[in-house]
Amino acid sequence: MLRTLRSVMRFRRFERDPVLRRLARAASVEDLRRIARRRLPGGVFDYIDGGAEDERTLRRNAAAFEALEFRPRVLRDVAKVDTTTTLLGRPLDFPLVLAPTGFSRIVDPEGELAVARAAERAGLPYTLSTLSTRSIEEVAAVSRGRKWFQVYAWRDRELVKEMLERAETWGYEAILVTVDTAVLGRRERDIRRGFTLPPKIGLETLLSGALHPGWTWDFVRGEPIAFANVVGKSVGDGGDAVKLSDYINSQFDPGLSWRDIEWFREHWKGPIILKGVQTVADAELAAEAGVEAIALSNHGGRQLDGAPPVLELVAPVADAVGDRVEIICDGGIRRGSDLVKAVALGARACMAGRAYLYGLAAGGERGVDHVLEHLREGFERTLVLTGSRSVDDLSADLVRWRPAGD
Ligand code: GLV
Repeated sequence: MLRTLRSVMRFRRFERDPVLRRLARAASVEDLRRIARRRLPGGVFDYIDGGAEDERTLRRNAAAFEALEFRPRVLRDVAKVDTTTTLLGRPLDFPLVLAPTGFSRIVDPEGELAVARAAERAGLPYTLSTLSTRSIEEVAAVSRGRKWFQVYAWRDRELVKEMLERAETWGYEAILVTVDTAVLGRRERDIRRGFTLPPKIGLETLLSGALHPGWTWDFVRGEPIAFANVVGKSVGDGGDAVKLSDYINSQFDPGLSWRDIEWFREHWKGPIILKGVQTVADAELAAEAGVEAIALSNHGGRQLDGAPPVLELVAPVADAVGDRVEIICDGGIRRGSDLVKAVALGARACMAGRAYLYGLAAGGERGVDHVLEHLREGFERTLVLTGSRSVDDLSADLVRWRPAGD
């Protein structure tokens, strides 16, 4: 009996590094989300995790991936599969771009630097947000990988011009102009918590801080958080806590229109991607305006609640403009199989934001590596299991919408 027992008993080697220990147990992005929820103060977690109003669009983004299923092919010799593709004419290790997310330093002290380094290691473009907590220059100093710059149209156009010049000087490849934020969506989790950026250390935060000592220690020890790209400008750099809605509604230009795309063209020589397109009609206008790519997006369900789930837009938009502009989509990417679905419907690549922020919260830079490897490996495995040898094998035949009620 002892021999039998000895032959079947195996203890996992004890991992001394607490971060690696945490990450080793995180088998999915949802696991990382649960860890993030534990580690972050409630207000910070909700700011990242939440959506607008009743969060219908947020839920439907994810539900659309559930509603699309595969029609896998077999006996296709998948001994070797190739995950690579191209985007804006340049190679990509697999079809993913790291979406812009503001204020990454509220999650981890390294913030955007950690994410940009992880993206470079994974062979993927990183999009720096206008409202980042590390500047255009700081990010360029740590990453030689592909970098895009996300632009909000500030009322102060001189400021936008200056940021575009800085992005060009520092080797950013493309700009991604966000067009779905004429005003900020109503994020009711943030309203209930009175959430500000940076988070105010009030009584509630102190209490929450005691329950999340790791985060609180990093937060109070680190340099003050500010909107790094506009430090010292007249627009307010977040040095004093602000409600995001007050800031965005006063600083960003709701008068932005198709005519402004020409303005961006005049001031930016590289590719332009419009982020926030949500109809075939606007995709057509974007193609006519001559942008290189569109990002189908409802801002992760954070802007207009009731906007359509992004995955449902991919095929009709690809039919209408896929031969003229590259299509990127985001909203609910949690697995490599989600990337396969979007590409099969006609997207060139997907963007993910929350997924890597959960990783950043759970394990810092190594947490972001963990998420990107999870998505890459899931993409490769799904290619194999669907009988697809490369991205070129992915087409609409590979998927079907599950009949309603099934
Ligand atoms: C900012 O863009 C946000 O979605 O909070």
